[in-house]
Amino acid sequence: MGGVKYIGSFLWCAIFLYYVSINTISVLGISAEQDLSLTPRELQALTQFREIMKPRLEKEHDYMKTDIYLIRWLRAKNLNIRQAENMLMENLKWRKQYNLDGIHNEDWSDMFLDYPYTNDTYDLAGRPIGAFSLSDWDFRKAIAAGKQVRLFRYMIKLLDEATNGVLRLQREGKNVTQWKVLMNMEGFNLVQHGCGSCLPGFSYFVQAYENYYPGFADAIVAINSPAAFQVVLNLVRPVFTAQTRESLKVFGTNRAQWMAYLDKEISRDQRYPEYGGTRKLKH
Ligand SMILES: *[C@@H]1O[C@H](CO)[C@@H](O)[C@H](O)[C@H]1NC(C)=O
Ligand SMILES: *[C@@H]1O[C@H](CO)[C@@H](O)[C@H](O)[C@H]1NC(C)=O
Repeated sequence: MGGVKYIGSFLWCAIFLYYVSINTISVLGISAEQDLSLTPRELQALTQFREIMKPRLEKEHDYMKTDIYLIRWLRAKNLNIRQAENMLMENLKWRKQYNLDGIHNEDWSDMFLDYPYTNDTYDLAGRPIGAFSLSDWDFRKAIAAGKQVRLFRYMIKLLDEATNGVLRLQREGKNVTQWKVLMNMEGFNLVQHGCGSCLPGFSYFVQAYENYYPGFADAIVAINSPAAFQVVLNLVRPVFTAQTRESLKVFGTNRAQWMAYLDKEISRDQRYPEYGGTRKLKH
C-alpha cells in the first residue's frame, strides 16, 4: 500500500517537474540588461505589436503600455505577433475574471499564518526575492480543510505581488525586470507536498505562471533538497532544455555548495538565517 502510494506520488512529481521544465523555466536566466536591450528583430516586432495593442490597452494600467511589459509577450511566443496578441488578451481577460486587481485587498492573514513567506529582501542585482520553507507549507493540510482553491489563489497573489514589486522598482527608475524565488526544501516529503490531490492545483498554478507572468522569474533556487526530490529531478532532467538545466538551481543538503552559490547572488544581510544570512526575522 505504502509502495503504491509512493509510486503514485513519484509519478505525480515526475509529471509536475516535466511540466514545469517544458513550460515554465525556459525563460529563466535572463539578466535585466538582456531583458532591456532589444535585438533588431525584437524592435521590429515590438513596433508592430505596440500599434496593434494600443487601442486595446487604452483603459488598462499604464505599466501594460510600456515596452518592457509588451516585449515579454512577444518573447514568450518567439516574436509571433498574433500569438503574443492572443496571449496578452487572454491575460487581460483572466485578470478581470479572476479579479486580480482586487486580490491584494483581500484578507489573507489566515493563509499567511499557515503558508508564510518573506518578500522584503533583494538580490545583488536589485531583484525582489520571495522566500519560503517547504516545511511550513503543508499542501495536503489545505486540501484536507477544503481550502485548495484558496491556497492556489493565495499563491497567485504571491506571483502578482512579486511582479508588482518589479513594476514598482521600474517606476523608481531601477533596471529590475524579474524576481527570484528561494525555497528551502528541507522537510520535503511525498505525503505533504507530493500528494495526488495536490496535482490539479499545481498544474493550475504552473499554467498561471506560464500564461500570465511570462519571463518574470529570474531563477528558482532550491536548497536542502532531500534525496527524494533529487531522485525525481534527476530522472526528469534529460527533458529539460539546456537553458533550463542552467537556470533551475537545485541544491542538496551540502551547505557549502549552496552558500557559495547564494553568496554570489544575494548578500548575507538580504538572507534570513536558513539561507545562510544574517537578516533577522521580524515577529
Ligand atoms: C509583502 O507582502 C505584504 C503582505 O504580506 C504586502 O503587503 C507587501 O506589499 C509585500 N511587499 C512587497 C515588496 O512585495
Ligand atoms: C538601465 O539599462 C539601460 C539599458 O541597458 C541603460 O541605458 C540605463 O542607463 C540603465 N539605467 C540604470 C538606472 O542603471
